[in-house]
Amino acid sequence: MSKRDPQTPLTENKPLIKWVTKMADLCCPDQIHWCDGSQEEYDSLCELMVQSGTFIRLNPEKRPNSFLCRSDPSDVARVEDRTFICSQDKDAAGPMNNWADPYEMRRKLKKLFNGCMKGRTMYVIPFSMGPIGSPIAHVGIELTDSPYVVVNMRTMTRMGKDVLDNLGRKRVVPCMHTVGMPLEPGQQDVPWPCEPDPKNKYIVHFPEERSIWSYGSGYGGNALLGKKCFALRIASCMARDQGWMAEHMLVLGVENPEGERTYVAAAFPSACGKTNFAMLIPPEGFEGWKIWTVGDDIAWIKPDENGHLRAINPEAGFFGVAPGTSYDTNPNAMESIKENTIFTNVALTEDGDVWWEGLSDEAPGKLIDWKGNEWVQGESEAPAAHPNARFTAPIKQCPTYDSAWEDPQGVEVSAFIFGGRRMSTMPLIFQAFNWSDGVYIGATMGSEMTAAAFGELGKVRHDPMAMLPFCGYHMGDYFRHWISMQRRLSETPRVFHVNWFRKDEEGNFIWPGFGENMRILKWIVDRVRGRSMAKETPIGWAPHYEDIDWRGLDFPREKWDELMKVDRDLWKREVIMHEELFIDLRDRLPKELMFERELLICRL
Ligand code: GTP
Ligand code: SPV
Ligand code: MN
Repeated sequence: MSKRDPQTPLTENKPLIKWVTKMADLCCPDQIHWCDGSQEEYDSLCELMVQSGTFIRLNPEKRPNSFLCRSDPSDVARVEDRTFICSQDKDAAGPMNNWADPYEMRRKLKKLFNGCMKGRTMYVIPFSMGPIGSPIAHVGIELTDSPYVVVNMRTMTRMGKDVLDNLGRKRVVPCMHTVGMPLEPGQQDVPWPCEPDPKNKYIVHFPEERSIWSYGSGYGGNALLGKKCFALRIASCMARDQGWMAEHMLVLGVENPEGERTYVAAAFPSACGKTNFAMLIPPEGFEGWKIWTVGDDIAWIKPDENGHLRAINPEAGFFGVAPGTSYDTNPNAMESIKENTIFTNVALTEDGDVWWEGLSDEAPGKLIDWKGNEWVQGESEAPAAHPNARFTAPIKQCPTYDSAWEDPQGVEVSAFIFGGRRMSTMPLIFQAFNWSDGVYIGATMGSEMTAAAFGELGKVRHDPMAMLPFCGYHMGDYFRHWISMQRRLSETPRVFHVNWFRKDEEGNFIWPGFGENMRILKWIVDRVRGRSMAKETPIGWAPHYEDIDWRGLDFPREKWDELMKVDRDLWKREVIMHEELFIDLRDRLPKELMFERELLICRL
């Protein structure tokens, strides 16, 4: 144990203690705190952050045990251009990742981390992605100087002493994190410390070593290292090597009035509707139907001994987009965040509660905006909450929480759904002809950029399987892995593509979305079960108007035709976009996808 630490480590695992000591010698924190994951620890860290000004305790009568946190205005989203994959071989990372030489990066990181925690506490966070002790789960240890990260990790993962007690001989993924702001003696801290220079942030992955180093940011996917860094970038490499899949997918169960349950997994890019879809409430006309939530962001999916795909949610909480969330759009999310919730970059109301754009039609007259300034309805122009403002809440608070979340074997996945945010071209729903066509559809997915990452808002970019920012290796190899998964399966999941975001000429969404998406989901389940009809189009199987259950909704046939239109001219342009992607990946592109593209061109 380090001489700095009066606290005994919570484990006798010698290699682990040795590693923590070595990292403490590098980072030079004032103290080391081993996180036990208890409620008392959580409460006292929250209180510590209230004292330091990092947290504002919300009105306990409105929002018990909940806090507001305002990040530095420069530290509000994932930084994709500062995210690196440091494989030995540059080619292994592929053209869609930022590669950096692992040797040089290690040298750079050593310098950056040297003394980076001076004046701060180093927290040791043992966490399990997936049920503790499950053969599918994997364990990480994050070292961080941010108490904000600790409390978020407690909600987002299974965290604490139990993880250490069940460590056994499991291989641990080491995760280093610092906000990058050491304190000199006597120097005043700020509520949200982070590296002020946006060019000096590093989110680094060493896929062969399976380690993560994150420097300079305290926000979301940059800092909660179990999430995108581990459960997607590192896990995608593990999955490739071990024959399973780590995907940016929600997992939900659909239960019909007869009690039959069907599980589906859906990949939509960041801020494109996963959380909403995962906790959908069936609309009028669907009495007796129920949706069960297993996960809203990440799925680990493995073939079982019968050749069926089974999925677990490696996370334990929601790190959800606040703006747009309301009792109209997502009542289950609203119920999930009633208490024990951390809000980041939302607005504060006069009575000590939270507000964001879309929570209510009318904004309260006066607010404190996400930057901490006064905000007056009708006068202030900028949004009161940041567009990427988030809530952190335990999955068990969700009314549709599925206890299968705790099943170490996971749930059987019968369908994959891909979907992007596309104002044109893409119909509301279609089904792939078969597995390789399905992989083609996922691989060639495009989506308009959102506020979840820094970049050009609204621009359509390729986002294969919603994994563009999250695949830890060459995208061509990733497609090959997808193609090859079929050989391990006795039953292949059906593949679908949806687009909730098509717009009319006035720029309005044509499809009401949210709960109404149930009508599309029902068609999907019926297709999986061999119960519903479809017609063949150049791009796949599509429902007729009559194939959708319209009970409870008066939806005009003309609008349906507009939503489902496959415009051959726009599609030709779309195929040229596919071609651009394939040129980037040419040397590792599986031939199946080239054949699929040729077939698509012929059909068009
Ligand atoms: P990440 O957490 O970044 O991975 O995002 P996500 O995919 O979980 O997206 P989320 O469900 O939080 O939705 C993001 C935004 O899309 C919110 O503002 C929602 O209100 C909006 N949205 C979700 N579903 C629909 C829909 O069916 N129709 C429309 N028009 N908007 C939707
Ligand atoms: C996403 O951007 O897809 C998120 C939020 O889910 S973050 O944790 O920041 O990656
Ligand atoms: Mn996400």
